[in-house]
Amino acid sequence: QAGAPVSISTLSLHSTNEKSKFPYCFPSLNPVDVYRQHIGESLGQVTGIDPVKIYQRLAWTNTLDKGDLSLPVPSLQIKGKNPQDLCKEFAEKFPPSDFVHPPTATGQHLQFFFKPQALTNTVVGRILKEKAMYGTNGNHGLHNSADPSKGRKKIIIEFSSPNIAKPFHAGHLRSTIIGGFLANLYTILGWEVIKMNYLGDWGKQYGLLVNGYKRYGSEEVLLKDPINHLFDVYVKINNDVARQEAPIKELKEQIKSKQEKNEDVAELEKELEKLLEDSEDENARRYFKSMEDGDQDALALWKRFRDLSIEKYKKTYARLNIDFDVYSGESQIKPESLKSAYDIMEKTGVSERSQGALIVDFTKHGAKKLGKAIIVRKDGTPLYLTRDIGAILEREQTFHFDKMIYVVAAQQDLHLAQLFKVTELMGYKDTAGRCQHINFGMVRGMSTRKGTVKFLDDILKDVGDKMHEVMKKNAAKYEQVEDPYKTADTLGITAVMVQDMTGKRVNGYDFNLEAMTSFEGDTGPYLQYAHARLCSMTRKSGLKPEDLVAADLSLLTETHAIDLVRLLSQWPDVVLNSAKTMEPMTVLTYLFRMTHILSSGYDVLKVLGSEHEVAKARMALYESARQVLHNGMRLLGFSPVDRY
Ligand code: ARG
Repeated sequence: QAGAPVSISTLSLHSTNEKSKFPYCFPSLNPVDVYRQHIGESLGQVTGIDPVKIYQRLAWTNTLDKGDLSLPVPSLQIKGKNPQDLCKEFAEKFPPSDFVHPPTATGQHLQFFFKPQALTNTVVGRILKEKAMYGTNGNHGLHNSADPSKGRKKIIIEFSSPNIAKPFHAGHLRSTIIGGFLANLYTILGWEVIKMNYLGDWGKQYGLLVNGYKRYGSEEVLLKDPINHLFDVYVKINNDVARQEAPIKELKEQIKSKQEKNEDVAELEKELEKLLEDSEDENARRYFKSMEDGDQDALALWKRFRDLSIEKYKKTYARLNIDFDVYSGESQIKPESLKSAYDIMEKTGVSERSQGALIVDFTKHGAKKLGKAIIVRKDGTPLYLTRDIGAILEREQTFHFDKMIYVVAAQQDLHLAQLFKVTELMGYKDTAGRCQHINFGMVRGMSTRKGTVKFLDDILKDVGDKMHEVMKKNAAKYEQVEDPYKTADTLGITAVMVQDMTGKRVNGYDFNLEAMTSFEGDTGPYLQYAHARLCSMTRKSGLKPEDLVAADLSLLTETHAIDLVRLLSQWPDVVLNSAKTMEPMTVLTYLFRMTHILSSGYDVLKVLGSEHEVAKARMALYESARQVLHNGMRLLGFSPVDRY
């Protein structure tokens, strides 16, 4: 038909329902895959090389001046010819195409640049139509599973996992941010995602907490602010424990020195016994014992603490757009699971007795670096690792997961390596193989302006206040913000998260309030500003969605416009790539690349004052950019603001 816009969909060699002969190729979801197919077929035809092989070697470029796709010729492993010569030869042989420019041979790389028109029509058209679904595997069904009858793949993502009555420290914050991102990522890839919070809520210290509450607690304050109150109580009762420790230690030393001189210590030992017997530490042990034995009275207060804390956590997580499907925790591991784990360990010969304790000596099982780990203490009590072993077996039974991810600080690398290894040694090699530890480095100096030890809410409040101050500096703008407190809060949360996502996970960073709240540089507030600016352009243009869909995109001829389209075409690829790197940074870097192209183009690609058709085409482009920015920000867990 004359005049019909060229679109690369005419290029698809297969109907979209049909499975592509290229592996992991989803032309209906990913525009770049259409080009990969095209290049594979075309180059294959003239060179005799397997198109699938070419397809698989086509690589991303880091910057647009290096093309849209690039083929490292040596990776084709063609014997007997110099890659540089081959590269030139391929460039000359490549057949004329409506969709890509003749490739450029630069050294050993063949660079492909997409021709703008078809790309623009397809990419802008798709984004305006698919909106939030662009870049997702949303209603397109499966693409991860070779066998659709098996249904969606299931993943457990365990993250955040703070400890009740203790500070929510930077490690928990990072786990929350990274875990939230991974949960969103797997969701848009089409997986069934189970978000799990594995609370630290069990152990002698929770016996201590209950006793402390009986002495220092207040029902009223508990209801009002459980997290802070429980922490206060915990600090107080721990001070009592510490106070009692000094005389006990002294007495022990006296006994020791007397024994060395062969003097009688019976009296002193009696005294020591009494001190120990009456100590808070011993009280806590006894109390926790009754909790472990399932004494309902003993459990009642602990359960209230747990419930109230979870209620409060939920509110805070909601501010970060996170809600957990399961609040598990160390307390939830059934005694039967632990018992059965001990049995399996014994039967498989993984564990052994050592000085009254049950241990695993990894050095005897071909894992020298993992050392030894205690499984059951001399007094019969299990440990942190022990409960994790019980938990992994329970989760396997309950959920039959295809994959499980633990988002935990790198400080616990050894712990998780031991956990996976024990699981394997116990005969669950397959289970262990489906588990992955996603680790991260430390945040240095996370504190509020008033103090150090803090809870997530306090951190967010503090950043929000700072953000508010920064916003006030631009009085004209500030006046226009409808609800400045709410906006400051949202920008502040984005600020914290962007700072966290700026580097690779394994790297630590300094918590820097000043830097993260700035509108300059690649910060959260800047990203929000970029989104809000596009929203405001749409409002001011007075154009409706139907106008944009009907726009004549052939009017987008400027380099800035074309570069923006090229970048937008990459979004589905970026999503897939981030599933490989498991790094929020992969997405964030892309979003900032987009904001940079946008900001350098505003003067060139004006909407207001342009001829109507041109204005429509440009606005269609800006709206597409806004949509992709929005999709990316949502994936990272931010709440994009419409106005700032
Ligand atoms: N509550 C632990 C902590 O604060 C983190 C739990 C990590 N997850 C696990 N399955 N061990 O250190």
